[in-house]
Amino acid sequence: MTRSRFDSLAPVDCHPLRGVIFDMDGVLTDTIEFHYQTWQRLADEEGIPFSRQANEALRGLSRRDSLLRILQGRVLPEATIQELLERKNRYFRSFIETMTADYLLPGVQVFLKDLREAGIKTAVASASQNVYIVIEKLGIASDIDVITNVYDVDRPKPAPDVFLYAAQQLGLGPEDCVVFEDAESGVEAARAAQMRVIGLGDAAQVGAADWVLPGLEGVRWHHIQAKLNPGV
Ligand code: BG6
Ligand code: MG
Repeated sequence: MTRSRFDSLAPVDCHPLRGVIFDMDGVLTDTIEFHYQTWQRLADEEGIPFSRQANEALRGLSRRDSLLRILQGRVLPEATIQELLERKNRYFRSFIETMTADYLLPGVQVFLKDLREAGIKTAVASASQNVYIVIEKLGIASDIDVITNVYDVDRPKPAPDVFLYAAQQLGLGPEDCVVFEDAESGVEAARAAQMRVIGLGDAAQVGAADWVLPGLEGVRWHHIQAKLNPGV
């Protein structure tokens, strides 16, 4: 990490941060490839065109919203939709079974430890119904104070519900929290929750964030504070 990467940006807000809310897929672990392969298999079986590029647009969307995008307006009976969703998840669960801490993205373990030492509360707020098993497989459950997903709330991302719920479960307000997200819908959800947000990855996806970084490798809490809480 070079100094200039952190130096050149203006502060966003001065309210002291007390909590970090992570998205999971694409932030803590790279399941995007697993999702891609399982959607591709399903699409091939159903004779529906799909591609790696089309999969990028599904980042952050719930399983059902992803399927509706893939169907591109094709109307199917609800029972068929349910069968497709269950089949996709069956394929995906067989990938999850193979997951270990090796599937953590670079920098995640160090950053989580750094947050613990700084006394910062942590949550995961995911669109994934598989969030609990994935966090367990990754071996980081004891580093996270609250784990939640969009099935705990009324509306999926880009609605703010899951981030507001995570903050509430942490005993914090939106102004106390910073969200880490890799998806456009997630950045939009964090903004709608009136939280600060760090975008990880492609600026085409997360350019609306307060700050865009390539990933968590080399990132320390004092970098985040210097950017979002100068002088605190
Ligand atoms: C999101 C992923 O976190 O979870 C999406 O970015 C995925 O790609 C969604 O479709 C739902 O995941 P699951 O595990 O409930 O099928
Ligand atoms: Mg994500």
